[in-house]
Amino acid sequence: MMGIVFKLVLLILMLCPLTINSSFQYLTFVQQWPKGYCTTNPSRCQRNPLPTVFTVHGLWPGNFTKILQNCTKTAYTPLQNFQDWNNRNLRWPDLANPSPTMQNFHQPRFQSFWKHEWTKHGTCSENMYPQATYFSRTIQLSQGHNILNYLATGNISPGSNPTVRTFRRSGDYTQR
Ligand SMILES: *[C@@H]1O[C@H](CO)[C@@H](O)[C@H](O)[C@H]1NC(C)=O
Ligand SMILES: *[C@@H]1O[C@H](CO)[C@@H](O)[C@H](O)[C@H]1NC(C)=O
Repeated sequence: MMGIVFKLVLLILMLCPLTINSSFQYLTFVQQWPKGYCTTNPSRCQRNPLPTVFTVHGLWPGNFTKILQNCTKTAYTPLQNFQDWNNRNLRWPDLANPSPTMQNFHQPRFQSFWKHEWTKHGTCSENMYPQATYFSRTIQLSQGHNILNYLATGNISPGSNPTVRTFRRSGDYTQR
């Protein structure tokens, strides 16, 4: 069952209620189940071993009509420090690229996922969350929302075989 869950939209955060100057009204925090990603995209999956926790996909600003995209031209600023790379990778790994070494982590492909998420989504909340804040805020959200724990509260764990009803009920716990 858990293998099927690819992306789970955890919560819609009303962080920015109808502020006149901002183009977005909420943020969707999207996490993914790595095994599910790799089962659905076997040819893209480049991580071994895979994380056994839900990892960050992104933080997506929306405005009730749609998820906004590509809002400003602000370029992605690559991390320059391997330790910073590792810290972000811990919760926000790019499953479509292998882990780099200290020697080659500067190569663009090792930050291409973060670059993509920033350019496509992060730029749409830039008026409120400049780039460094966008990334640190997203990591903070992942620290505060362990989906495996939420599911465990509903008696769902990796390898278990819940009914749709059980699964829906476990969603109730995530609302708290
Ligand atoms: C959301 O954004 C789109 C594109 O910018 C715009 O066309 C639409 O009117 C906006 N909707 C709301 C509710 O602000
Ligand atoms: C935003 O940019 C991405 C990457 O270039 C592209 O795939 C997507 O279609 C663009 N979205 C919009 C609404 O232009």
